[in-house]
Amino acid sequence: MKPVWIKHAAQLATIRGENAPRKRQDMSELGIIEDGSVWMEDGVIKAVGQTEELEQIFGARSKEAEVVDATGRLVTPGLVDPHTHVVFGGSREREFEMRLEGATYMDIMNAGGGIHATTRMTREATEDELVEQASRRLDSFLTHGVTTVEGKSGYGLDLVTELKQLRAMKRLNELHPVDLVPTFMAAHAVPQEYKGNEGEYIDSIINDMLPAVAEEKLAVFNDVFCEVGVFTPEQSERILEAGKRHGFIPKIHADEIESYGGAELAAKVGAISAEHLLKASTEGIQKMAEAGVIACLLPATALFLREEAAKGRQMVDEGVAVAISTDCNPGSSPTTSMPLVMNLACISMRLTPAEALVAATMNAACAIRMEDRVGSLDVGKQGDVVLWNVANYQELQYLFGVNHVGQVWKKGKRVVG
Ligand code: NIG
Ligand code: FE
Repeated sequence: MKPVWIKHAAQLATIRGENAPRKRQDMSELGIIEDGSVWMEDGVIKAVGQTEELEQIFGARSKEAEVVDATGRLVTPGLVDPHTHVVFGGSREREFEMRLEGATYMDIMNAGGGIHATTRMTREATEDELVEQASRRLDSFLTHGVTTVEGKSGYGLDLVTELKQLRAMKRLNELHPVDLVPTFMAAHAVPQEYKGNEGEYIDSIINDMLPAVAEEKLAVFNDVFCEVGVFTPEQSERILEAGKRHGFIPKIHADEIESYGGAELAAKVGAISAEHLLKASTEGIQKMAEAGVIACLLPATALFLREEAAKGRQMVDEGVAVAISTDCNPGSSPTTSMPLVMNLACISMRLTPAEALVAATMNAACAIRMEDRVGSLDVGKQGDVVLWNVANYQELQYLFGVNHVGQVWKKGKRVVG
C-alpha cells in the first residue's frame, strides 16, 4: 500500500492532545493547523504538521506516495459513531406514518410493534442476510465520513438470535473497512413471550446470555433500556452489575422518554456513557459530571420522534463530556449521517461548531474505548481521515443537511472518493 500525503489543507482540525474525554472549554480546542499536512503509512499516521515541515521530512519520498492536494479544504479525523443498532432485519417505515398520524413510540411498542417488530424480522433473518444488509449501512456510514461505529445487539431477545446478531457484527468487523465495536443489549425490551414474566427474562440474560457472550468474546459493552415500561432502574442495575462480573463495561439508554433516574444510575454503576438523556434531571446531570460519565446525545432521534432534544448546552457547561451519535436504528432514527447529527447538535442543542466536532470524534471515541486508536489526527493513530469539500469547520456545521465528504481514508487506504 502506497503512503498517503495530504497537503495544503486550509484547516487540519487535528483534535490532538490527551486521549481522554474533553470537557468544558477543552471541547472547543480543535488543534487547527493551517496549510496542514498528514503523512500516512502502513495504515497509521506517521506525521502531522504544516505542509512546509512535512515537505522537509518527506519531500524526497513524494514520488512513492499518493499525494492529495487539499488546498482550500477542511481535513478532520474520521468521525466516530458511538451508538447504533446497525444490525437488524426488516424495516419499519409504516411506523413513521403511524407516528405522524398521532401514535407515540411507546404506544407502537406496547402494541407489539417497535422493537418487537424488528425482533421478529431479525429472528427470521439468516446471519448471512444480517451481514449483507448491515454491510450496506456501513458503506453509507463511510460515505458520510464515519470510520468507526459501535453496534448493539438487542433485536434477538433470545440466546440464539442475540448470538446471531453479535456473530454478524464480528464478521462485519473483519470484512468491512469500518471498525465495528460490539455491545450486548438483550435488555433492549422484554420479549413478548415473557410478558408478565420480566424476572424470568432477566434471569435468562444473567444466567444464560451473559456467560455465552463472554465465552465467545462477542461484546465489549453491556447496555440496558432503562425506561418506564421497559426495565426499571433496579432491574437495569442488576443486569449491568452482572455484566460487570463478566468484564462488560456498562452503558445505559437513560431518561429518553421519561425522567426515570437513568442518569443517576449511570453514575452509580460507573457506566462509561449514558445515552439519549432527553429527560435527564439536573441532579442526574451533575452526578454524571462528578462520576465522569460521558453523555452520548442523539439529536436525530429527538428530531425524528418530534421531541425536544437533550440539554446538550447545559451538560457541557456543567462539565459533562458530551459525545454525539446517529442512534442508527429502524425505529427512532434510521439515519447514517453523522454530519447531520453534528448540524443538529448545533441547531437543537446549542453546541458550538467546534464542540460538535469534538463530540463526534474524540469524545465519541472515548465513549467506546477507542481513543487510543481513533478520534484525532495524531502520530501513531490509525490513518482514519476525512477530506471535506468545505473551507473550515464552521462551514461544515453551517451548510446543513448536505453531505460535504470529498474523500475518506480508513487505516491509510482510500475508501471513498
Ligand atoms: O436507542 N430507545 C431504545 N432503543 C432504540 C430504538 C430501537 C428501535 O426502535 O428499534 C433507540 O432509540
Ligand atoms: Fe439506541
